[in-house]
Amino acid sequence: MFFKKKTEVQRVIPTHIAVIMDGNGRWAKKRGLPRNAGHAAGSKTFKEVARYCNKIGVKYLTAYAFSTENWKRPKEEVDGIMNILRDYLKDSKNYVKENIKLGFIGDRSVLDEDIQELMRIAEEDSKNATGLKCYLAINYGGRDEIVHAVKNIVNSGVSADNVTDELISANLYTDYPDPDLIIRPSGELRLSNYLVWQSAYSEFWFTDALWPDFNGKHIEQAIDAYNKRERRFGGV
Ligand code: IPE
Ligand code: IPE
Ligand code: MG
Repeated sequence: MFFKKKTEVQRVIPTHIAVIMDGNGRWAKKRGLPRNAGHAAGSKTFKEVARYCNKIGVKYLTAYAFSTENWKRPKEEVDGIMNILRDYLKDSKNYVKENIKLGFIGDRSVLDEDIQELMRIAEEDSKNATGLKCYLAINYGGRDEIVHAVKNIVNSGVSADNVTDELISANLYTDYPDPDLIIRPSGELRLSNYLVWQSAYSEFWFTDALWPDFNGKHIEQAIDAYNKRERRFGGV
């Protein structure tokens, strides 16, 4: 018998990585800067991480940018975050050049009209990109998403007997595979209402690094850890 020698162990790249972009406020505070300076730095990190994921062949990246609970923050901070979002969206042509497709999850109907329009333009401009599919979660809450799905199902007149796992999944904002790997920086060990339904069998990876300090090296560490996990999905 002849065995071909394996020179390098094949590494699996998760199809879908989800990231909770946390720690911007603490990063700014450590530097004596206003919280919104942390959000601006976090936005830069997000662009770099998306590029990195595109480069290594991740298919889907879903990044938590603003939760349904984040409206509780002072108006000045919320306005600052929305302005950073505007700048990011206006810059979206650059992603098209890099073959990155942009999308959004969450209830966008309550966002300012101009932001909704910029979101539509970013989606339209990048719709034919074949590289990374990059989704931003804005005014997103996992529970809100499930309520929204249930309302759709009830309004469509489906009978109780026809309600299935697949039907609920099909009515969520995410019309793509569930996350394989969920990354949360900043030392917090919770989901904070992120992808509540979709995370049922996701692997988790945490780091103390604050989001503005996060980079490709952390993505590599998370993927290495992911490759050591055994995903059983309830089987043996
Ligand atoms: C995450 O960073 C960004 C948003 C929630 C919009 P935070 O602003 O929560 O940063 P910390 O947790 O206060 O450090
Ligand atoms: C989660 O972070 C939301 C985003 C990163 C957008 P939070 O900072 O809002 O979460 P908690 O309040 O620490 O749980
Ligand atoms: Mg936080």
